[in-house]
Amino acid sequence: MPSTWNIIKSVIDQPSIFKSKEKLYPEYVPSYLPRREDELKKLASFFKTLVLEPGQISQRVLITGGVGVGKTATAKRFGTDIKILARQRGVNLEYVHVNCHRGRSLSYVLQEVSRQLHIPIPPRGLSSNEMYELILKYLEKNNIYLLLTLDEFDYFVEAAGNDAVYFLIRTYDAQPDATKRISFIFITRSLTTISRLDAATESYLLKNTIKFNPYSYDDLYEILKYRVDEAFYPDTIDDGVIEYIARQEGADTGGSGNARLALEILLLAGAAAENEGSPKVTIEHVRRAISETSPNISILVSDVIRYLPLHELLVLLAIVRTLRRIKEPYVRMGEVEVEYRELCSMYGETPRKHTQVYEYVKDLKNRGIIEAYVSRKGYRGKSTLVGVSVGPLDDLEKYILSIVEKVKEK
Ligand SMILES: Nc1ncnc2c1ncn2[C@@H]1O[C@H](COP(=O)(O)OP(=O)(O)OP(=O)(O)O)[C@@H](O)[C@H]1O
Ligand SMILES: [Mg+2]
Repeated sequence: MPSTWNIIKSVIDQPSIFKSKEKLYPEYVPSYLPRREDELKKLASFFKTLVLEPGQISQRVLITGGVGVGKTATAKRFGTDIKILARQRGVNLEYVHVNCHRGRSLSYVLQEVSRQLHIPIPPRGLSSNEMYELILKYLEKNNIYLLLTLDEFDYFVEAAGNDAVYFLIRTYDAQPDATKRISFIFITRSLTTISRLDAATESYLLKNTIKFNPYSYDDLYEILKYRVDEAFYPDTIDDGVIEYIARQEGADTGGSGNARLALEILLLAGAAAENEGSPKVTIEHVRRAISETSPNISILVSDVIRYLPLHELLVLLAIVRTLRRIKEPYVRMGEVEVEYRELCSMYGETPRKHTQVYEYVKDLKNRGIIEAYVSRKGYRGKSTLVGVSVGPLDDLEKYILSIVEKVKEK
């Protein structure tokens, strides 16, 4: 019988597959950001003046893009690097990153700036105006230039409103000859909130915009490969496993193009493999991790799908299958109908008429399972394009198949 000592020792001695697990944690900022070279270049050319002619202008850049596309990581990396480059040239540049989701008022933002720059503030409460004055004076006195990122800026705009935004970004409007000590990066997921500001402030913000697109399969493959090298020991994850995760999340392969989700899957799969004492991360570990990270299928959608009529199920199945085959985000209804008729003959069913199939598509769209829209133009004229808004596709296909089988059994 193993002694307690031996049990504990065997766990401690078991070789880990992780070289450095924390490199997969969301707060870790990697020193290299594959597939964001162009965006970094754009940032660098917008902020070049900060290094070459500091104080000449107060630059502002808006970064926009969906969830997990590297906006925060890119801004932080850029800030850290440009600070070093500026200092090498004798420019005293500081980088401050404030998350406006955590605090959504002007006074929170200003307090964060003072805190991160170690600016002593008197214990008695200061108004935002006074606090801002204090910061500007401090920068002037110590000859510091500041690049300030306001991340998740949408929340600030929503909560603090037009005047607060105006107050912050038009600092130097009244003093054109002042040394411009502060420049800004704003990060938002969408432009909707910005469009609610008054026209002048909106166009002021939108002047220099960098759009971050969702990551494709290729992008995610390269990103994951690099992060795997950082976090795992060699030969613990096969390429096929990395490809599988990239395919799940790639924007062109039915996913949302979200690197955070892809990395979370990688971390969970790795942790599962480690817990089992497996020397490798397998596809099966990944599948399990995916079902943990995407409750979409299980909770929201599975209930709806379970009670769909047979032919609506077959239309949905046809959509999922053609999407998987063509590996594009959307597919033409013409192709779906061909697949649908094939499925009908497989299951010994008479296909429903074209108009009925469109009714099913409309219903699936209303239920939020698919997206459907009419393409504007194309070489074959207008056509309806459909995509699936819930993933991953192969889990979905398996699930629909199991329901179809059940319905057919009855
Ligand atoms: N090009 C990349 N190379 C390596 N890692 C990346 C890259 N892009 C994103 N990541 C990683 O993916 C995760 C999500 O990125 P990030 O937090 O920057 O997304 P985001 O666009 O700010 O998302 P959100 O809108 O949800 O805040 C982070 O862990 C980040 O390190
Ligand atoms: Mg972010």
